[in-house]
Amino acid sequence: MNAIRVLPELLVSQIAAGEVVERPASVLKELIENSIDAGARSITVTLDEGGMRRVQVEDDGEGIAREDLPLALARHATSKIRSLADLEGVATMGFRGEALASIASVSRLSIASRTREAAHGALITGEGAQIGEATPAPRAQGTTVSVGELYFNTPARRKFLRTEATEFGHCDEAFRRVALGRCDVAFTLKHNGRVSRHLRAQTLAERSALLLGDELVAASVPIDARSAGLALTGLAGSPQSARPRAEAQYFFVNGRFVRDRVLAHAVREAYSQLLHGERQPAYVLFLELDPRAVDVNVHPSKTEVRFRDSRAVHQFVRHALERALAPSAAEAPVAYAAISQFEPIQPSFGLAQPAAAYQAFMGSAVPTPLPAAEKAPPLGYALAQLHGVYILAQNEAGLVLVDMHAAHERIVMEKLKKNLDAGGVQRQSLLVPAVLAAEALDVATAEENREVLERLGLELAVSGPSELSVRAAPAPLASGDIPGLTRDVLREIREFGGSGALAARQDELLATMACHAAVRANRSLSVTEMNALLREMEETERSGSCNHGRPTWYQLSLADLDRLFLRGR
Ligand SMILES: Nc1ncnc2c1ncn2[C@@H]1O[C@H](COP(=O)(O)OP(=O)(O)OP(=O)(O)O)[C@@H](O)[C@H]1O
Ligand SMILES: [Mg+2]
Repeated sequence: MNAIRVLPELLVSQIAAGEVVERPASVLKELIENSIDAGARSITVTLDEGGMRRVQVEDDGEGIAREDLPLALARHATSKIRSLADLEGVATMGFRGEALASIASVSRLSIASRTREAAHGALITGEGAQIGEATPAPRAQGTTVSVGELYFNTPARRKFLRTEATEFGHCDEAFRRVALGRCDVAFTLKHNGRVSRHLRAQTLAERSALLLGDELVAASVPIDARSAGLALTGLAGSPQSARPRAEAQYFFVNGRFVRDRVLAHAVREAYSQLLHGERQPAYVLFLELDPRAVDVNVHPSKTEVRFRDSRAVHQFVRHALERALAPSAAEAPVAYAAISQFEPIQPSFGLAQPAAAYQAFMGSAVPTPLPAAEKAPPLGYALAQLHGVYILAQNEAGLVLVDMHAAHERIVMEKLKKNLDAGGVQRQSLLVPAVLAAEALDVATAEENREVLERLGLELAVSGPSELSVRAAPAPLASGDIPGLTRDVLREIREFGGSGALAARQDELLATMACHAAVRANRSLSVTEMNALLREMEETERSGSCNHGRPTWYQLSLADLDRLFLRGR
């Protein structure tokens, strides 16, 4: 690491100044980031009383030379940049040379450190504005920064601290953000003498499972997209893992956790096809790009960034996510909708004994082979229909269960969308026009929005002061409930205006339409019809979830079934 130097005055003014040591969690964030910048492989965080009594971070990084220790606590002194050019391409978490000085001014702080070359370690302490001398102290390579009694000299600030539990919660979240961003570094978090988290260096999936839960990881798709100097990697939660609150959303830009409007919007757009309503997607995403293409010196907390070409970034992120989230069933046969945890329902069933006899009896039963085909389709072949609601199918992995209404709804919706993108929904003339009773307002809406209605595949005629007849209906929906469909479309158009409904609410509108077409529960399907539905699912984008974000199918593997029956294989 370079020697620490005081920055020239001009540069200082160019740097977004004004450190905010808001609470123990902000101290923790700064200290861990310093350890990361020092190349630490292992970082141990020790907190007492939610960090209000003590925040200590110990690392095995490069260390600070004894003669540099006083400078580490001086304002605007940093080893990380020297010039404006360095600032523009900064790749380290820190660069302002302010964090330790600000923290030292409102706490009792000590740094013990040793570089690889040094014969022994050194210690420096500061109390408010009083900085002591560096003295020799025992220590292995690395640095320990200990911040005690935050705001001991500023009682007004101290009053703003909350309860121990609240402050610890904020610290834990700060810890989580850094730890998710650097899975290659080992972390330990201790609170009031007890280890609360222990993470070895691991993969992102392993770390996310520990910090955000197994379910999220099981119901997410990996992302790895690259184009023109931009890379997006990480895990994107499938619609099934969406949550009511935006609590598991982590976006990192060049390793730094950020909250950015451009990125948030791109993510929202990518999910808008899959999540209607208030559900929030879960994700851990990493955007990597040339440091010179992004300005991190926007706000002292460095959680805001500014992209040089924000449009390109927006498009790239949105499309990369859409592609990863929208596989048809054929592309993501099992992972997308696999059951994450399948517990035996009746573990005390006591079947262990009779199992042998049962096996002997069943031994001769030959499993039905899959019909010979070049390559078995991912969703397999239909076996039967259950209670008019589910399709049971057999594929290579085992049993596939399909919610036929939900699946069909998605297929119809995607068809409508394609049609509309290509200029308009295909119309099918009705031999016998469907007639519906309509209010005067409906009649007026129909007359005023003839063009929009036709684009949606509906041809209406006024057959009386309170009667409309439907001459042609959208082809993919022609066998559905036409009067109901027409009424719903007219209502949406009335609420949002014809073109308004199409522009702003197209997906909702199409979802409403699809709902009327889709096979209703309790309609019995022939095996041929069921197979046709399975094949269509394989070809349809986003067919893993219905228009409301619920899953459309599940895979139960033979292993799942064996577990269910306590059958060792
Ligand atoms: N854990 C550490 N290991 C090695 N050096 C450290 C460590 N913590 C701080 N330093 C040294 O002390 C200097 C000052 O740290 P400080 O956090 O105040 O500023 P910075 O990280 O350079 O910038 P910023 O204010 O943006 O965080 C750093 O530039 C670095 O040289
Ligand atoms: Mg720093």
